[in-house]
This record gives sequence, structure tokens and C-alpha cells, in this order.
Amino acid sequence: MAKASSVDFLVMGAGVAGLRAAVELARHGDVLVVTKESVGESNTHYAQGGIAVAMEGAEDVALHLEDTVNAGDGLVYRPAAEALVNEGPLRVAELIEWGANFDRESAPADPSGGHFLRTREGAHSLARILHAHGDATGAEISRALLAFTRTRGRIRFAEWTRVAGLVVADGRAIAADLASAEPSRAELGDAGRRPRTRLRVAARSILIASGGAGQVYSDTTNPAVATGDGIALAAQAKAELADMEFYQFHPTALALPGVPRFLLSEALRGEGAYLRNDRGERFMERYHPLLELAPRDVVARAIAREAMLDRAAHLDPAAPGAGAPQPRPVYLDMRHVRNLDLAARFPGISAFLAQYGLDLRRDLIPVRPAAHYLMGGIRTDLGGRTSLAGLYAAGEAACTGVHGANRLASNSLLEGLVFGARAARSMLSDSLPLVSIAASADAGPAPKHLSAKEQKCVEGLIAGLRASMWTHAGLLREESSLLQGLAAQAACEAALTEVAAGGRSSRRLAEAQAMCRVARAILISALARTESRGAHFRSDYPRRDDQNFQNHSVIGRDGQVRFEEW
Ligand code: SIN
Repeated sequence: MAKASSVDFLVMGAGVAGLRAAVELARHGDVLVVTKESVGESNTHYAQGGIAVAMEGAEDVALHLEDTVNAGDGLVYRPAAEALVNEGPLRVAELIEWGANFDRESAPADPSGGHFLRTREGAHSLARILHAHGDATGAEISRALLAFTRTRGRIRFAEWTRVAGLVVADGRAIAADLASAEPSRAELGDAGRRPRTRLRVAARSILIASGGAGQVYSDTTNPAVATGDGIALAAQAKAELADMEFYQFHPTALALPGVPRFLLSEALRGEGAYLRNDRGERFMERYHPLLELAPRDVVARAIAREAMLDRAAHLDPAAPGAGAPQPRPVYLDMRHVRNLDLAARFPGISAFLAQYGLDLRRDLIPVRPAAHYLMGGIRTDLGGRTSLAGLYAAGEAACTGVHGANRLASNSLLEGLVFGARAARSMLSDSLPLVSIAASADAGPAPKHLSAKEQKCVEGLIAGLRASMWTHAGLLREESSLLQGLAAQAACEAALTEVAAGGRSSRRLAEAQAMCRVARAILISALARTESRGAHFRSDYPRRDDQNFQNHSVIGRDGQVRFEEW
């Protein structure tokens, strides 16, 4: 049997929000950061474009606020956006002081000299986005924060460890059950080391900063770790979720058969890239005055429309499954951009494309939208407090209402910094006492492993769920497709429950169950919002309906969706 352990603060997730919170918390207590892979593996790490921040004073801040609110399509919770843009400059300045190197005008040999280089992305009224190593901004922020946390004596990391459950007593989250996240390795022994069996860790408070859930969709820019674990855990513990219908689809993921949907940063369009259809037309002029730099949801839908235009002409009667329309290719075009060394400005993207014989300077790059960022998540107040005492959330896992129905590009790293710090401050000021966990009240016996056949079955169920979500709850939705998605989700959930029967468990099974739970939340919220707004487009309700829906969807303790003003 596992023994119980305790720590002042437990943080789930080692991306920007979790690490920023850990730094704050370590000023007043011991912190355990739990992450299911190595600390470098997070959505943060893969963020390319940059971090949006208004460093030039009040006017600049006011414009950033306006852009954030406009992109959110009538649903941004203004106090959250104000906190983001007002506190952002301080949080970024702090990060620079802690060692983050953003690109500057000077030569790389002198990283402290010269003004910061700034780029522009969709729906920004000016160039305000800082970047690092060209297109590796998230990796640099992650590196700098990790290095800084290493200098804080009170932060420990439990890598390859997952949170298998939250322990709730008297209406408060008081502990978390940890389990190995890597079945082939031994399990943790003590908080911060690998457990041999499950380990229950009591904490004064728990922060979920485990990022998003892009893996719920078959087409996503997100890494394999983005399976919505924290959101699912919170929902299971009966914390409220909000705005789950708003999943942002990034317009430009690489569209090569058999190749992952690699992100082609919006910064490419910020530096002048055009979008062209297969007739070579720059089609965005038909959709929005900001052309390629229109809000992300507008560009993503425009690409989807161009890809499926003239469906009838595209039917290939000889093809297997004839009758299904073949999407037409849509391209990103940088061939005309001559004032920039593209390989130097976008080294990561250039290197990835080179593996497939593509070159930004020479080639049209095939693109299509892919699931990218969840605007919804665990409902929190401006201090990261969820509806469950003792449980806090920040970053993509949380929903403060800051993004409304559509996140402004490059606001997410800033969100992690600002709301990670805010959540930590609430955890400190709420100052909840530690509830000691009796040794007998541990996380129970080690779970049984899955057989090879069961593992294969779980993989099949995951693939089916992801494909169904893409088809039924993707860029364009309608009631009938969402209901089909819900039926597929229910079947998947039932099959997973059968696999788990008798105490079987594995990381992959837990991820499948998390994705299934998140998928349900997306589907029921999307069904309930019978209008189109931001990233949520209902073909059967194509208009925005402010009279009935200028408010947030909330999934309460009863699992039902209601709408509320914040
Ligand atoms: C990108 O580089 O296009 C992604 C930035 C973001 O999602 O904010």
C-alpha cells in the first residue's frame, strides 16, 4: 500500500502558467509540480509565433485591450482582459529579468542590445508580438522559467507522473492521487520521486495548469500530451466548466498526407504571407477587410470554404468511396516576400518543411485548419479560483472569459504568465490549512495492467473519438452532426468503462477517459448554443444572437449546460 504524503502546494502542469505560479508559491511554501512527461514537454514549449504584450504605455495597453475584446466576438469578460493587458507588461519585464531572451534588432552576439523586434498577427491593430529564436518563443519562455524555478529551493518536480484523481472532502479539494505516467517505469515512492504504487498527496491547495485538449480532435496542432486531463479531473470532482463550445481552429496547419498537422505560425502572415486557393487567387478579400490578418475564426472558415468550393466539380467518380467531396488545396504563399531572410526568421518552420522538400522562399505550402486552443475550460474567477474550494486553475485549462469566443493570436503565453501569478496569489491569500491524510486513506492498491488486446482496443477507441469530433464538432457544426458526435462519444465512454472494469488502469486509458469527458462537454455546450459566434459556427444557426446568447455556457455540478452573464 502507498503511504500518504503532503506538500503545501501541488501544481499540475509544467507549462507557462504552472511554472509562473510555482515561482510565486515558492516564496511562501513547498511546491510540487507534477507533469506526465519530462518538464520540457508542454503546449507552451511548441508555441511559435510569440507573446502579445503592450510595453509602450497606456495608449498601447488600451489598443491591446480593444483588439482582445474585438477578437472575442462579444463575449470577452472585460475585467479579465483588463487584467491581462494591464499586468502583462510587468509579467513580461519580470520574465526578461529572469533570463528570457526575446529577439532584438541587434546581432545575436549581443542579446541585451537593441529594441525588441515585434511582429503582427491576425486581428492585432499593430505589431506588438515579441518572439524568440524566430519561431521558438514558447521553448524560450519555458527554458527561462524552468531555469529560474531551479534556483528556487522550494520547488520539486515529479516528472512522468500523472494526477489520477482529486480527493474532495467536505466540499474542498484536499489531496491528489498520483500515479506513474509511464507504464514501463517504476512508480513514485515519495512526493517528487517515482512512486511504486499510487500515492496520495495532501496539499493546502491544488492548481490545475495542465493546458488544453487538442488531442480530442484528429487534426490538431497540439502535442500528444494535450489530452485535457486537468479539465476532466476538475469536471469529475464537480467543478464547473465554461465556454467549452469555443475551440479555436488555427487556420494554417501543414496539410500533407500522412504528416502531422504541424503549426505554420500566424507570424508568417504577419510577415506578409498570402493565402491562395487552387486557382491561385488571394481569396481573403472576399471574406474580411483585414485579409490574411483577419481574426483567426474568420480565416479558418474562409480556408474551409475555399477547400470545399465547387464540391460537385470535385467529385472523383473513380475514387474509392466515390461521392465524397475531395477537399481542394489551399496554400500559404511567401514567395513574394523579399525583404526578409525567411530561413533565419522562421528557422524551426523552415527546418520542418525542408524534411518534406518544401521551402518558404520557393514553394506554395499546403495548409488547412486544425484544432489549436480551447477558449473554455475550468471556470475560474480572476484569481484562478474554481467553483470547488481548494482547487484553482490557470492557463489554457482555465476559463476566465478573457478570450471570449475567439482568442486574439499570441495572447495565450501572456495569459499563462498573468493568470498563473494571479492564481498563486489567491492560493497564498486564501491560506487554506493542510488536511492531514491518514495512512490508511491512501490511494488504494496498485491498479491492474491492461493486456495488449485491451491497449489496442483503447487506441482504437481514441482514434474513433478523435475522428468523430473532427467530423461532428469541428469548424462547421449543426444539430444533427453534434447529435451523431454525442452518440459516438457515449459509445466510446461505455466501451472505456468496460475496459476499466475490475480496477484496470493505464496512462493511455486515463487519457482516453479524459478526452471522452472533454468531448462530451464540447458537444453538449455546442448543442446548447444555437447561434454562431467566434470559433463556434452552427450551419443551422449561422447568425450571432446577442439577445439570447451574449453570455457564457456553464456546465454545473449536475452536468447540465446553462447560460450565465459573468
Ligand atoms: C501561431 O504562432 O500562429 C500561434 C500563436 C497563437 O496561437 O497564439
